Amino acid sequence: HSRTLILGIDTSCDDTGVGVVELAGGRVRVLANRVWSQTVHAQYGGVMPELASREHVERIDAVMADALAEAGVTVDELGAVAATSGPGLVGALLVGLMYGKGVAQALGVPFHATHHLEGHIFAAASEAELAPPFLALVVSGGHTHLFDVPREGEYVLVGATKDDAAGEAFDKIARLSGLGYPGGPAIAEAALTGNADAVPFKEPLQGQKGFDFSFSGLKTAALLAHRAGASAPDLAASFQKAAVHTLVKTTRRAAEATGRDTVVVSGGVAANRALREAFAGTGLRVVFPGRGLNTDNGAMIALAGAAAITAGRAPGTLAEGAEAYAP
Ligand code: KG4
Ligand code: ZN
Repeated sequence: HSRTLILGIDTSCDDTGVGVVELAGGRVRVLANRVWSQTVHAQYGGVMPELASREHVERIDAVMADALAEAGVTVDELGAVAATSGPGLVGALLVGLMYGKGVAQALGVPFHATHHLEGHIFAAASEAELAPPFLALVVSGGHTHLFDVPREGEYVLVGATKDDAAGEAFDKIARLSGLGYPGGPAIAEAALTGNADAVPFKEPLQGQKGFDFSFSGLKTAALLAHRAGASAPDLAASFQKAAVHTLVKTTRRAAEATGRDTVVVSGGVAANRALREAFAGTGLRVVFPGRGLNTDNGAMIALAGAAAITAGRAPGTLAEGAEAYAP
């Protein structure tokens, strides 16, 4: 049977990601996943778009070479190229998008413009066969989106954050407690030695009929508790418990309402152990991306490209519906 090697590129923010995925007999396998994470932004306390673009330009050749070496393939063996076309920082996106288009054109192979969130969702295809219908919760530093995916290529937004993204809340609370950046892993680590019942948090949007999320109330409550003298581990453990509770409860209600029994949980926050354990206790079939595929990377974009190829979707088109949810 035929084997197609798909190159995937993501330069939507401050990570230069290049991955290689093999598609053979309808099955996918990640052969390489290389990410260069930019550190220049730390001194500014946030991502500087112009610096991010420049560093992608400087790094992308090396990351590409590393990815091909890790996969053990040469560039001319590639059968398709996928790159993130949005959403993201436009100057940063353009580096990977134009690089990918150049490679595809030079090789004479199809090019797939890919939605960043479709990449996050299909990152989970590294772990299990992923065929709609399913629900997808994307929880990252920039997104908290709950999609119903009734058919291939169709994304129905059933809920989203009304304010901060989940990862953003982890990052902000880590910063106020002096735990450093990125905040997610720092909170998870500090929580191990904290008391999760030390700081009472009110459940956000309690009693809502819909499936939205809100983290600004938790953030304000954390600030007040910090000022009142709560320790960093207690604050971390209590906040993590509250954040996990609202994510799992709302997703479980959405699964009941839509009748879906498979849930994909992806994005940077999906790396969180407490979140994984809480989802494991729901009785739903929950699929998480494999190691290194939760945070931004190129392999997830290649996996989304593989899904598009398998579905026979035309190169260069975004999944129907996905575009509408670009922030
Ligand atoms: O998907 P990602 O790399 O970038 C965006 O597209 O936003 O996600 C990064 C976010 C950060 O906010 C980071 O704090 C969070 O994911 N994160 C975590 C964990 N690891 C990363 N949040 C909670 N627990 C973790 N273990
Ligand atoms: Zn992302």
